[in-house]
Amino acid sequence: MDLAQKINQKEITAAVLGLGYVGLPLAGALVQKGFKTIGIDIDREKIERLKNGYLEIPFLDQNSLDGIELTTDFGLLRKCDVAIICVPTPVTNDFTPDISLVQSAAQEIARHIPEKKLVIIESTISPGALREKIYPLFLQCGLFHDKDFYLVYAPERIDPGNNNFTLKNTPRIVGGMSSTAGKLASLFYSHFVDSVIKVSSPEIAETVKLLENSFRSLNIAFINEIDNYCRSSKLDVYEVINAAGTKPFGFMPFFPGPGVGGHCLTTDPYFLTWQARLQGMPCRLLELATSLNRERPWQVFIRVKKALKEKGKELNKARILLLGITYKKNVPDIRESPAINLFKILREHHSLVSFYDPFVSYIEIAGENYNSEPLDKVPLKEIDCTVITTDHDGIDYQSIQKNVSLLIDTRGVL
Ligand SMILES: NC(=O)c1ccc[n+]([C@@H]2O[C@H](COP(=O)([O-])OP(=O)(O)OC[C@H]3O[C@@H](n4cnc5c(N)ncnc54)[C@H](O)[C@@H]3O)[C@@H](O)[C@H]2O)c1
Repeated sequence: MDLAQKINQKEITAAVLGLGYVGLPLAGALVQKGFKTIGIDIDREKIERLKNGYLEIPFLDQNSLDGIELTTDFGLLRKCDVAIICVPTPVTNDFTPDISLVQSAAQEIARHIPEKKLVIIESTISPGALREKIYPLFLQCGLFHDKDFYLVYAPERIDPGNNNFTLKNTPRIVGGMSSTAGKLASLFYSHFVDSVIKVSSPEIAETVKLLENSFRSLNIAFINEIDNYCRSSKLDVYEVINAAGTKPFGFMPFFPGPGVGGHCLTTDPYFLTWQARLQGMPCRLLELATSLNRERPWQVFIRVKKALKEKGKELNKARILLLGITYKKNVPDIRESPAINLFKILREHHSLVSFYDPFVSYIEIAGENYNSEPLDKVPLKEIDCTVITTDHDGIDYQSIQKNVSLLIDTRGVL
């Protein structure tokens, strides 16, 4: 049976490499659809936790993962017909994309190819990376495209915790190194994604993903600027945005916040700005947006400082409570959270800062652990400034507002 037939008849074994926010739901969707599924991760403890039924991603149903073969053994790739890479792609301290984890996962696949294999990258990479930095790793192992392997870029667009748009009903972009590669990947995704959009090259698919996240990065920086403007003009920014949102075309509402966080928005725009600079065509507007977004927790800090001063309180003696430490609501993800940045800045300025987050029991900063303070134990009356940093559901913000002397709402909850 050839690979297309095997995919068509679901006679394949699929391996997902990297079992995080992207890989785990994907492995779950595959096993649910009746594919033999292997989940591979380099984190031995994570694999043990998953085997013991401990899920770090709360909106995933444990039962949806039943039947996945969980392992750290890359040797099992030999059994697979399709391998999908979902490993992290961070940036270095100087904002250079680091795709070394994708490359090492790809090398493992290349080492274990007994026969035709469809290899898909879902991790975010910069334009040209698939062709220039991943494809050669297969050639170095003596493999031929369209004969031994088919390489495809199909970026994940998942929004963890979003129940309206899921892996199934979010259209999937597919850009293959060849037309056959694209067709095989489209066939594969059509089993568990409602709509698959095949684009003409991996470079288009890579740029699509970066355009989407850069669009958000730009708009967040812009709306935060409008927020600053409205506050200085004593205008309600939410009234402005909501009224503008009644325009049925040409406008899409974005809302202010304490800054961007998570693994995507804090890194993906740099994949584009880095590549654009390499090509001598800098994306200056996007570069400005990323630096404004990095500054945003400092702007909140200044707001806290000013508000305290108006109340006659010095920052270095103030007790400050941050409500929410994750980067977005209703998820336990603290990666690059702007609330953590604010926490650090306040500590550096000797405030007595604490936090409450129903999804996070503690955070670690410079080797020290800070626990989430149970809200019913926090003497709200003694807190000098409370800051809503994440808009988690299930918190009685109205009652908190009644019990505190100063409240700064960076999310527009109130
Ligand atoms: N989190 C999101 O909302 C989101 C959305 C769309 C796209 N993405 C992209 O998807 C990719 C993965 O992101 P994530 O949020 O799932 O990351 P994650 O940190 O939640 O999970 C990644 C997993 O990969 C494992 N891993 C690292 N190197 C590995 C290797 N060589 N082989 C096997 N496993 C390995 C890690 O141990 C970890 O468990 C990134 O490129 C990210 O930009 C993320």
